[in-house]
Amino acid sequence: MDDKPESRPRVMRVGVLTGGGDCPGLNAVIRAVVRKGILNHKFDMLGIRNGWLGLMEGNMVPLDLNSISGILPRGGTILGTSRTNPFKVEGGLGKIFSQLKKFEISAIVAIGGEDTLGVANKLQAEGLDCVGVPKTIDNDLSCTDYTFGFDTAVSIVTEALDRLHTTAEAHHRVMVVEVMGRHAGWIAVEGGLAGGADYILIPEVPFDINEICGGITKRHYRGKEFSIVVVAEGASPKDDTFITQSQELDAFGHVRLGGIGYVLSKEIEKRTGFETRATVLGHVQRGGSPTAFDRILATRYGVAAIDLVQEGKFGQMVSLQGNKIVAVPLAEAVAKIKTVDMDLYELAKVFFG
Ligand code: F6P
Repeated sequence: MDDKPESRPRVMRVGVLTGGGDCPGLNAVIRAVVRKGILNHKFDMLGIRNGWLGLMEGNMVPLDLNSISGILPRGGTILGTSRTNPFKVEGGLGKIFSQLKKFEISAIVAIGGEDTLGVANKLQAEGLDCVGVPKTIDNDLSCTDYTFGFDTAVSIVTEALDRLHTTAEAHHRVMVVEVMGRHAGWIAVEGGLAGGADYILIPEVPFDINEICGGITKRHYRGKEFSIVVVAEGASPKDDTFITQSQELDAFGHVRLGGIGYVLSKEIEKRTGFETRATVLGHVQRGGSPTAFDRILATRYGVAAIDLVQEGKFGQMVSLQGNKIVAVPLAEAVAKIKTVDMDLYELAKVFFG
């Protein structure tokens, strides 16, 4: 058999990247995409390091069966990530298309949230074949019931609330627990529900500080001398008088949040007279091993994504609807964020105060 390179059949090369904030389950997706891509579809798989930044720079790593072995339970991403928006970089698009040509990449599987998939959607319009996989602990991507990473984050919040309950009760304190969620309060609502929070404050519903302090005081006088308040980082008060936040913006124009927990705890202590402490869970919610649910969802997403590439169905995102994995247009998925279901929030309110 003639084994000269030019006589071998051209194998389709597929690039995989992870962009935006990391979350548990990214490696499980990469493993599934690469394994099915190599074994079933005979693709040549190439890892692109650090999201869209790596594609502009030509920062690539070949992916074979060994490089993805043993990564299923690992948090983070073996490919690295960044919050780079190539449409905000001078000549970014040109750099991307020249690297695609140089590395002979025919299609990209982009694993990310609204920002990363927003870029994938724009690149698709520019002629690059993309398939998206919905990732974010925030669960705020449209057209899918769940993003992977969310279930793990909710489990972390639940465990934290269980632990904070015992210390709150021992010291007769109010505990304010700040969780992630800048535009949508999914983590706060589901984590708060599972962890038995006494108040849950979310970006979708501006909160009334008087109502919360009144409720905490009532709890106190009926014998519950401790309270747990869960606040999403993007939550804000109705009157907007006591919140300060950084004005620093990232490449996608998001304000860097964090800190409302401290401001709110001071305000609650001042208004109720009860000793109050704040805990900011921060990036703990994004770290460590994914739950079984997230490992399975990530695996299903990865397999479905590479199947879409094989079928030539580009400009699509894999999505969970009910218990089925389906494909939805990327353009629809990134058109608007998915905010908290108000029926679920009403249910959570049954347990307020
Ligand atoms: O997008 C996911 C997320 O975890 C948000 O909940 C949070 O606001 C943001 O990322 C934090 O970003 P960074 O890791 O850049 O601080």
